[in-house]
Amino acid sequence: MNNETMTYEYSVVRQFAIMTVVLGIVGMLIGVFIASQMAFPALNFDTPWLSFGRLRPLHTNAVIFGFGGSALFATSYYVVQRTCHTRLFAPGLAQFTFWGWMLIIVLAVVTLPLGITSSKEYAELEWPIDILITIVWVAYAVVFFGTIAKRKVKHIYVANWFFGAFILTVAMLHVVNSAAIPVTLTKSYSAYAGVQDAMVQWWYGHNAVGFFLTAGFLGIMYYFIPKQANRPVYSYRLSVVHFWALSFTYIWAGPHHLHYTALPDWTQSLGMVFSLILLAPSWGGMINGIMTLSGAWEKLRTDPILKFLIVSVSFYGMSTFEGPMMAIKTVNALSHYTDWTVGHVHSGALGWVAMISIGAMYYLIPKLFDTEIYSKKLMETHFWIATIGIVLYITSMWISGIMQGLMWRAINADGTLTYSFVESVQAMHPFYVVRATGGALFLTGMLIMAYNLARTIAQGKAATDAVVPAAATAH
Ligand code: HEM
Ligand code: HEM
Repeated sequence: MNNETMTYEYSVVRQFAIMTVVLGIVGMLIGVFIASQMAFPALNFDTPWLSFGRLRPLHTNAVIFGFGGSALFATSYYVVQRTCHTRLFAPGLAQFTFWGWMLIIVLAVVTLPLGITSSKEYAELEWPIDILITIVWVAYAVVFFGTIAKRKVKHIYVANWFFGAFILTVAMLHVVNSAAIPVTLTKSYSAYAGVQDAMVQWWYGHNAVGFFLTAGFLGIMYYFIPKQANRPVYSYRLSVVHFWALSFTYIWAGPHHLHYTALPDWTQSLGMVFSLILLAPSWGGMINGIMTLSGAWEKLRTDPILKFLIVSVSFYGMSTFEGPMMAIKTVNALSHYTDWTVGHVHSGALGWVAMISIGAMYYLIPKLFDTEIYSKKLMETHFWIATIGIVLYITSMWISGIMQGLMWRAINADGTLTYSFVESVQAMHPFYVVRATGGALFLTGMLIMAYNLARTIAQGKAATDAVVPAAATAH
């Protein structure tokens, strides 16, 4: 086929983009439900498959892998084609990644409420599903790197470096951490034992944060902010330093999840030091993202997509300041086991991951359907409802968490505990109500988004942009 007549492969991008919104709503609905269970335990209905313990991992799997994963597939497939000036490599295989990933999500929805779990956090799915994940992931890597290999421009744009690192590292983490000895079709035991198991798990867990919830979304940042702001990246040199520094540093920081455990003390300290160093590349990236807007700040007042994107990068900066602080052992002695951790998680998850995905979908979906957004006003409303929801969520968890930590460690002059555990649970109740309210607001914003995008899709038609010949745009 001749270059001029070749079109980009958008159908798989459209499928993943739509599922980002659908699975976002499903995952956050479960989030609001479990948040309400924490405030009103009667909502467990004495039914095992509706209980908090079973639905919590369903929430994390649905939002991280369903919502976040779909956003990453959609954006990486789009960005790699646009920046390499070529059609997606092996579109049939890309379709396989879509249906395979959806099957994995369905299997999670069935098995987790039934209590079928490997009990490793963020890696709960049992071994047959783990094998399926590996197969789909290898197909993803083939499509992504195959497209890079057949690119029509010499340069590999920095967003692709981040997407590439995310794909390779997640493959490595998943294969190593999921190694297990199957007993039946639905039960297996980890290949590791004791403290080694814990260390492998948190090497995986922390880097799932670093590469799934961070590197991939930085790929989104590096493409969509310059595009929407219509300006080049603030410093391309900084983006390259950012990439290598972040990739090198993240991989060592896992032990901060295991402070004061049986893990050797030096390993904990190493994890703490690398977590502190991690502040530098994280903030380098944040500054690069935000400063891309320099000279065009006024756009922030009028462009709701930029509001989502820039506020998300600000939350990224905030959570990557908070994380290194929490990694300091004496701070962690207070924060660990408390809601402070949950507050930190959601300032990253809602503030950073969800907001940047939402911004990217508002950019992408009208383009994929060759139309304009149905209502800019509804986008603006969504932005404010979501931001208020996040603020309610994270501030309530900070207060509740620090209060919990202080109540648990308070002692009387004679050395006895000042508060019983139940007293601390009672004190948390109002904050749980505020958190559930914040979550419900965020979910409302997602429903507004779904309506706005459904109307957008209804007025549009499937777009088929022609591939721009490399010679026409060579830089
Ligand atoms: C409407 C929005 C949301 C609500 C109401 C919500 C609510 C919750 C609740 C109640 C928990 C359990 C906390 C606990 O065990 O004490 C939780 C955990 C978690 N959620 Fe969400 N969530 C929301 C959105 C998200 C999103 C979008 C993500 C990721 C992109 C996410 C990632 C997580 C993670 C990783 C955990 C585990 C935290 C930990 O182990 O410390 N959540 N969420
Ligand atoms: C420089 C960057 C960061 C550092 C050093 C860091 C550090 C930490 C620390 C110390 C904890 C508490 C561990 C514990 O006491 O159990 C934690 C928990 C967590 N962080 Fe971060 N964080 C960073 C950025 C982020 C970002 C951007 C996100 C989300 C997108 C995130 C998601 C999480 C999650 C999901 C947990 C809970 C893990 C669990 O216990 O289930 N972190 N982080």
